[in-house]
Amino acid sequence: MVYITRKETFSAAHKLTRPDWSLEKNEEVFGKCSNPNWHGHNYQLWVTVKGEINPETGFVTNLAEISLLLKHYVLDKVDHKNLNMDVDFMKGKLSSTEVLAVEIWKQIENPIVKLGCQLHSIKIQETDKNFIEYFGS
Ligand code: NI
Repeated sequence: MVYITRKETFSAAHKLTRPDWSLEKNEEVFGKCSNPNWHGHNYQLWVTVKGEINPETGFVTNLAEISLLLKHYVLDKVDHKNLNMDVDFMKGKLSSTEVLAVEIWKQIENPIVKLGCQLHSIKIQETDKNFIEYFGS
């Protein structure tokens, strides 16, 4: 089994807030990300897929096709968008990096299988100091 990773970047606005909490509680729990007037991050996204090497090509899968898939299912939807308001797969959800990773997984898991490999992990870095990883469960 060989693991290959495609790295992408995107910029998006969001805010972390629960309408059923007071401003003070939102700020206490979510910190700067609770700012009512929004803010943005420059996100970095690593998508790792795994599979066997195709002896005909020497590839697990064609990374150009992974790139196109990520553009269609993820980047076109999130880049320079508001994660809370503009992104269909984030509607009604908290726009934490954790939730974003899980929802991106749901978007791309099946399309990646169609390319002859399996999704292994999604890693998202929201700031220089924090990143999260999701392995599908
Ligand atoms: Ni934030």
